[in-house]
Amino acid sequence: MIELIDVWFRYSNRGGWVLKNISISFKPQETYIVMGANGSGKTTLLKVAALLYKPCKGKVLVNGENFWELDKSRRLLLRRKVVYVHERPILLRGSVIYNIAYGLIIRGIKADEAVWRAERMLNELGITYLANRDSKSLSAGEAQLVSIMRALVLEPKIAFLDEPFAHLDRQKRKKLVELLELFRSRGTGFVITTHNDVVLKGLSIDHTFILEDGRLIKES
Ligand SMILES: Nc1ncnc2c1ncn2[C@@H]1O[C@H](COP(=O)(O)OP(=O)(O)OP(=O)(O)O)[C@@H](O)[C@H]1O
Ligand SMILES: [Mg+2]
Repeated sequence: MIELIDVWFRYSNRGGWVLKNISISFKPQETYIVMGANGSGKTTLLKVAALLYKPCKGKVLVNGENFWELDKSRRLLLRRKVVYVHERPILLRGSVIYNIAYGLIIRGIKADEAVWRAERMLNELGITYLANRDSKSLSAGEAQLVSIMRALVLEPKIAFLDEPFAHLDRQKRKKLVELLELFRSRGTGFVITTHNDVVLKGLSIDHTFILEDGRLIKES
């Protein structure tokens, strides 16, 4: 579980606060939605919760451990249990299958096994036809799906997905919702940002949060 306690964040000392006194917790096997206008702080909140940004004030606890006070090796270990998928995905040079398998390979999984797991992901999403395509040749929606696949193949405890539906057509959105539900049934928690809740049709949502100018104003 990841818990933010009284978190404040700003990008520079002269800039204004982007997150203001946020307390929120995220658990595996639950789905959280974070909504809010452009610039309200959604991406920043996800990056703090995904253990990428250190808050300026407040604490981030991971299963009760104060993350930013731990030593580097412990932090690395805990960080490997979560993934953050960027709103504008950046892929590696090379094929789609390589992109998806790469994270497993650097975690010490043998190449054969990594490729097999990557193929299984593509299969679950019905996009095996993309396996050997060069990552540079993908459309925005295809690249978005591949970046989500390469994160989920790592079987994270919590996946932070920033605008995962943004470039997807209706059919691909439906496929992605099915895949998220499948992973959730296996234990993954999801924290998803969106401007538009229509795209979430079919997704079982446990909690909805709304950010307004860096403050959490409503939850259900
Ligand atoms: N790297 C940065 N340096 C300085 N300011 C930043 C940086 N990234 C974001 N900001 C500012 O922080 C505020 C919150 O940005 P953030 O990206 O978290 O919003 P968001 O809710 O994700 O917006 P969007 O819906 O457009 O993705 C904005 O005012 C933004 O200009
Ligand atoms: Mg954003």
